[in-house]
Amino acid sequence: MGNPLKLFGIALTVAMGGFLVGFDATVISGAVPFIRDYFDLGGAAGTLKLGWAVSSLGWGAMAGNLAAGPLSDRWGRRTVLLLTAVLFLASSLAAALTTNFTLFIIARIAGGLSVGAAILIAPMYIAEIAPARSRGSLVSVNQLMIVIGISISFFSNYFLLSLGADSWRWMLGVQSVPAALYFVLLYLVPESPRWLMGHGRGADARRVLDAVHGPSAAQEFDLIKGSLADQPRRSGARKLLSPRLRRVMLFGLGIAFFQQATGINAIFYYLPTIFARAGGGLSTSFAQSVLVGLVNLGMTFVAIWLIDRVGRRPLLCVGVAGMALSLLAVSWAFHAGSGSLGAGTAAGHERIVLIAIITYVASFAISLGPVMWVLLSEIFPNEERAAAISVVGFWNSLVSASVTLLFPVGVAHLGPDGTFLAYALLAAAGFVFLTALAPETRGKTLEDLERVLTRPRPRAEA
Ligand code: BGC
Repeated sequence: MGNPLKLFGIALTVAMGGFLVGFDATVISGAVPFIRDYFDLGGAAGTLKLGWAVSSLGWGAMAGNLAAGPLSDRWGRRTVLLLTAVLFLASSLAAALTTNFTLFIIARIAGGLSVGAAILIAPMYIAEIAPARSRGSLVSVNQLMIVIGISISFFSNYFLLSLGADSWRWMLGVQSVPAALYFVLLYLVPESPRWLMGHGRGADARRVLDAVHGPSAAQEFDLIKGSLADQPRRSGARKLLSPRLRRVMLFGLGIAFFQQATGINAIFYYLPTIFARAGGGLSTSFAQSVLVGLVNLGMTFVAIWLIDRVGRRPLLCVGVAGMALSLLAVSWAFHAGSGSLGAGTAAGHERIVLIAIITYVASFAISLGPVMWVLLSEIFPNEERAAAISVVGFWNSLVSASVTLLFPVGVAHLGPDGTFLAYALLAAAGFVFLTALAPETRGKTLEDLERVLTRPRPRAEA
């Protein structure tokens, strides 16, 4: 049986990376009004600089996505996570303490590097150390921690507001405490057994497997060994283009596209605006955002509970269908209300917008939210996993940035009803794509999946 408590402790520790990702990505929203004043970001030039201040983390994250795979192949998963802890710590202190705008941007880009790396390497590490039967739940703990990080940064900003003009320094600086803790706790976590094995450190891998998997360690060891046997180590992105990976690469890029193209981050970032323009008055934007955050959190627990019981496919199919229907309802409510954000809708329609956004977030939280990260950590073969996750994670970030950039343009040209209809149609397309192509990975070892999902190596490659 191994040691479930130990495994859970390891997953929780590594998933603190998810917490820092969620926190760091959201914390800027509370700091914006203060840094605007402090760095004097008014006027046309100032507005662009403000854009830089907010978006710099995202640019850094894309670079972090691309670097994470190759570095984690070379140095090990745990080493890269330790590095992200250092960067999370240093960048949060630098952003909090600086009096210079350029340094502020550099600090935020550095924070972004660790966001982009941790969001990929933490779930991948957990998948590589978890036993097949609980892998889905353990990897989903990382998504749970992302959601908790988002919520805590929101609360933390709210409470630190009272510190006045310097409160932004505290908002950005408090992250150094969990970052330091992450660094220390990561020392208690072993390196990924699958990485160790791929680097000729079989004895070390065996020790890790014995410690976490107990009696099933020997069997697991042989499986991993079999999947890596006699393979020359190839490097570079070219291996990702090989025909044997075509199916999993296409599926990975597809699910990463649909996770973002269906609007989750546009809806999160513009939530208060959406509610206010739907008629407002239902409650304050703070209360509404808290409600949506709680639903996101609660349904992620449900996903953790279900993912190894019912499997990945049922969660994806039901959740994405729920997302499509909810988005259709939002679109309809805007259309039937006034069709125009600025004019406000009738009271009944305003309530439908709120309820439908909540069912949308709930549906995301049991499907594309956690399940995409679980599947991306599972579908690629041991040798190519890190490189593949880098590319697919970068693509996911790129689609997210484009969708949030285009949301205001969509609202201006298509109206809120048209914009949400577009998301609904994309969710419907996602439903068809996922129903047709999503593999069921529940209960299978990563090596079983490698055999089923990728074509055997051609002789010349082996
Ligand atoms: C997504 C993020 C999103 C978050 C919200 C994650 O799975 O990748 O883009 O902000 O879920 O809960």
